Amino acid sequence: AGAQRVFSGIQPSGVPHLGNYIGAIRNWVQLQKTCGNNVMYSIVDLHALTVHQAPLLLKRNIKNMTVCLLACGIDPKQSIVFQQSQVPEHCELMWLLSCQTPNGWLNKMTQWKSKGATDNKSFVNIGLYAYPILMAADILLYKATHIPVGADQLQHLELTCDIAHTFNSRYGVEFFPKPQPLLSEGKNQRIMSLRNPLQKMSKSDNQEMARIDITDTPDQVHNKIRKAVTDCTSAVTFEPEERPGVSNLVSMYSALSGKTTDEVVEDFTGKETVELKDGLTQVIISYLKPIQEKIIELEEDEGHIEQILTDGARRARERASVTIRGAKELLGI
Ligand code: ADP
Ligand code: NA
Repeated sequence: AGAQRVFSGIQPSGVPHLGNYIGAIRNWVQLQKTCGNNVMYSIVDLHALTVHQAPLLLKRNIKNMTVCLLACGIDPKQSIVFQQSQVPEHCELMWLLSCQTPNGWLNKMTQWKSKGATDNKSFVNIGLYAYPILMAADILLYKATHIPVGADQLQHLELTCDIAHTFNSRYGVEFFPKPQPLLSEGKNQRIMSLRNPLQKMSKSDNQEMARIDITDTPDQVHNKIRKAVTDCTSAVTFEPEERPGVSNLVSMYSALSGKTTDEVVEDFTGKETVELKDGLTQVIISYLKPIQEKIIELEEDEGHIEQILTDGARRARERASVTIRGAKELLGI
């Protein structure tokens, strides 16, 4: 519908897991087809800095995330793939927008309230507090209209709309379009932890057995799925409320096989959960195989990855500089 401009970001925090893949990355790949060359994906390393990062590991993680995105099907010929810190206009716009944002708005952010204000063990910094404004800058810098996000980012996207609205009404023009969410954790796309199916699969879960990383070997996949928490009923059904464990396995099976959850349940009528686990293990292994082969191929050519990021940053800056010029003009600087 019209000229959709898509922007999304992912933090360089290690290898993506199946939740990231099914809930986000796979949709990003799809959007390349529907939105032509109006799709931008950023490795948001500046956001990662809100918590302490070991420098060498961060550097490696930025490369790794780029490699993983490309291996999953993000095509730098169709989308602009870039590293956030290589486009200094993100920080520049952040400042301009910070001066339009009352801090009362930031105080209301539930992520800040839960992570920042209460976590006295870690070093809480201004960056963590202000990061929703950086996120607003990421989006508004490219006048993006459609933002693939997880449900936990919806409040930040609303803040982005409020900031855009404030700017527009103060300076009397519709300078920033109002971005709208493309919810990535749609039906059956929210993948739950293998150890506790009431929690979502997450990188921040310290238990490695709780998630499947896209680089996991067949043995690792086999082990993790075999030990995945289910319940004492052995039949295969899809009842996310009553039977979250087995339903999560059905969801994963469905997402990767292209079958509906009903079809998966049908395929396993009269069979036991252990057979579902075996089937799912095979589905995951064969799904990940070509992605893993591509990762190895890309890792062999580091210069190529660097070239893609340099190119992406150059193309992003062409667009970003136009926005900065326009915003400064309106502000009178
Ligand atoms: P994590 O929670 O592992 O740190 P991020 O917050 O970096 O993941 O999320 C990156 C993207 O992946 C977001 O779009 C988010 O909605 C999606 N995502 C993360 N975890 C899941 C999950 N378990 N199921 C579906 N989508 C997920
Ligand atoms: Na997260």
